[in-house]
Amino acid sequence: MTDVIELDDRLRRLADELNHALIEQVAAVRKLTMPAWRAAFEAVPRHLFAPRFTLPQNLGGQTLDGTDVAQREHWLRAVYQNEALLTDIDDRDIPTTSCSAPSVVATMLESSQASEGDTVLEIGTGTGWTAGLLAHRLGSDSIISVDISAQCVTDARDRLERLGLAPTLVVTDGYLGHPARAPYDRIIATASIRKLPPAWLDQTRPGGTILIDLRGDFAGSLALFTIGDDRSVHGQFLPETANFMPLRSTEQPFQQLPELSSRAVREPGEQRTTSLDPAALRTRSFAFLAQLALPGTVAGHVTIKNGEKRGPMYFCLTDPRSQAWARVTTDTTTDRQVIQGGNRRLWDELEAAHDLWKRLGQPRPDEFTITIAQDGDQIVDLPGADRSWSLPL
Ligand SMILES: C[S@@+](CC[C@H](N)C(=O)[O-])C[C@H]1O[C@@H](n2cnc3c(N)ncnc32)[C@H](O)[C@@H]1O
Repeated sequence: MTDVIELDDRLRRLADELNHALIEQVAAVRKLTMPAWRAAFEAVPRHLFAPRFTLPQNLGGQTLDGTDVAQREHWLRAVYQNEALLTDIDDRDIPTTSCSAPSVVATMLESSQASEGDTVLEIGTGTGWTAGLLAHRLGSDSIISVDISAQCVTDARDRLERLGLAPTLVVTDGYLGHPARAPYDRIIATASIRKLPPAWLDQTRPGGTILIDLRGDFAGSLALFTIGDDRSVHGQFLPETANFMPLRSTEQPFQQLPELSSRAVREPGEQRTTSLDPAALRTRSFAFLAQLALPGTVAGHVTIKNGEKRGPMYFCLTDPRSQAWARVTTDTTTDRQVIQGGNRRLWDELEAAHDLWKRLGQPRPDEFTITIAQDGDQIVDLPGADRSWSLPL
């Protein structure tokens, strides 16, 4: 049984006020424009789904516990911020589940096109909040939500029951969908993925939609796939990104910055200067195109530790498949050193991608489309520019 937090009258009124203010804040950025979803946000209070959580590092990383009466008001105020709340963090300090940010949840629900009569599969139950919002609007019988974590499913079920909601919750690897209740009108994934899993396509009805956070190592974007009556698939990237944590699946393991990066900072290689600042990858539209142009490449900052002493910090690109690597000094001068090795010249490729991005007029992610070829290849196009990229295996 999860922790039940009974609010006294004063805090209950405060929770209502805070929820209302949050709804207005989300509506002000043109989300929650549909009255039916707004009503769901009013009826399914977020605080019931996050009795204990850690704020993201950019907000101080503080852990707040609503079961502790002394910090209850502080906890309640933090729940009703437009932020993701980390509800579990593993022993490597990596968040494994969270309560997604309200504006992201509103975007997902509205963009999914789910409406009365639809059967919806949510991949990533997490705290159960999104499943609760879906069940409130569409009815518990129409909602199936799966999570790989048995603890998430147990906790979510208890919380939803307290609101009189009983969607079907299943512990399973969502990469495989949930064939038992297929076909679905809508599939919504609240964990990110590198490619659309074939099972999700197979389990969606003609005329249905699949909404995912398509994300590699450089950038991500929400992508909405529409299944035609002839089962053709058309995907459109949306302006928004969701920043979801990666789907943990044995079927499609997420790449960690590999061992290769420690070789990348030590080995001698071809050396030259570069005027491209690694910080260019912080520009989302460039990061999006670079990820398509350098499929499978992993990026990150790496330093050499020699006992207590830290060496210089490098920005590294590595490609586990070709064993190629590049390191770049992170000083602010225009003649940064780049050193590259292996079978590809990753930094040359990144510079070429940067030139292409400028030549194409710095296209935004939502200018790209995605289709699925007969052989299952997932191809991203930039209409009008005669350019296409295959998503990596
Ligand atoms: C961002 S959280 C979901 C937030 C949730 N929708 C909510 O409203 O609280 C992502 C969830 O995806 C789950 N997840 C990760 N890999 C998964 C997989 N292969 N199958 C199903 N769920 C998975 C995690 O356990 C985590 O609970």
